[in-house]
Amino acid sequence: MAAVAWRLLLLPLRLLYHTLRAGWWLLMPPRPRKLTADTVLITGGGKGIGRHLAREFARQGARKIIIWGRTERCLRETCEEIRSWGAECHYYMCDVGNREEVYQQAKAVREKLGDVTILVNNAGVAHGKSLVDSDDDALLKSQHINTLGQFWTTKAFLPRMLELQNGHVVCINSVLSLCSIPGTIDYCTSKSSSFAFMESLTLGLLDCPGVNATTVLPFHTSTDMFQGMKTRFPKLFPPLEPQTVAQRTVEAVRANQAFLLLPWTMHLLVIMKSLLPQAALEEIFRFTGSYTCMHSVKGRT
Ligand SMILES: NC(=O)c1ccc[n+]([C@@H]2O[C@H](COP(=O)([O-])OP(=O)(O)OC[C@H]3O[C@@H](n4cnc5c(N)ncnc54)[C@H](OP(=O)(O)O)[C@@H]3O)[C@@H](O)[C@H]2O)c1
Repeated sequence: MAAVAWRLLLLPLRLLYHTLRAGWWLLMPPRPRKLTADTVLITGGGKGIGRHLAREFARQGARKIIIWGRTERCLRETCEEIRSWGAECHYYMCDVGNREEVYQQAKAVREKLGDVTILVNNAGVAHGKSLVDSDDDALLKSQHINTLGQFWTTKAFLPRMLELQNGHVVCINSVLSLCSIPGTIDYCTSKSSSFAFMESLTLGLLDCPGVNATTVLPFHTSTDMFQGMKTRFPKLFPPLEPQTVAQRTVEAVRANQAFLLLPWTMHLLVIMKSLLPQAALEEIFRFTGSYTCMHSVKGRT
């Protein structure tokens, strides 16, 4: 009983300490993790944000880069570019939605290239259709790739990270996991489940020294994924550049930051969402065109 009372007394002090420490780190960031001993595996590393992540990890000194994807041409191009800078890069064809293929390729990576110390779950698809307009297979595919794919890749690499007490699991999620829009219902659902996966994983790693997680939640980014998306005020809410997302992601991993919303103004959206009544939120979404922005998107599989 005395121990519980003591812990209760200490709790506000500990909260204050962590809040002040986070504030101090904003002003005086601690020395970032060096990547020179790290082997980084990026799913969907052939193009879009994934290709920029591969470039950025290489630029910031990672020892080996391994990229996975389904399109060999894109993977080869990315690898050749990174190798031309003198960095080590390898690619494997792997559909992360296929559990057996993930386990098989993870084994091949381990046997040929050694242990992966940073896993970046970036691969994703968006069909860009409403529930009634989507065919069932497309709805299943987005859950298999965007959510379940991370179960298989993380299960494949995390046990060894825990053994080595050295590892980092990264997820390129989306701000849509916290604030859904219509017209891409399967994508929003998959990203929300993936966010829950990462929150649970992050807390589960609290007592695992040397192993951490980072979840990145970017706003609309100018890649092929949401090509054609029309927002009402593009000057006010411009899309992010994929290289910015990649750079901020690598910095967050090196600083061991658990969650990163991009841009920072998305924090306001989250605060408004938890405070304002639904009707007021609907006014904001209507005003900004969020209800209709998916109408012009072609969608990709
Ligand atoms: N673009 C945005 O507005 C935005 C915003 C927030 C978050 N995100 C997230 O950022 C991540 C990257 O998206 P992006 O914008 O770079 O899109 P992108 O340009 O369409 O790239 C998607 C990548 O995922 C790979 N991929 C798709 N399905 C795969 C599968 N089954 N197995 C392995 N790789 C697969 C693709 O390669 P292959 O087709 O060759 O397999 C490609 O490299 C996604 O998780 C996305 O949800 C994007």
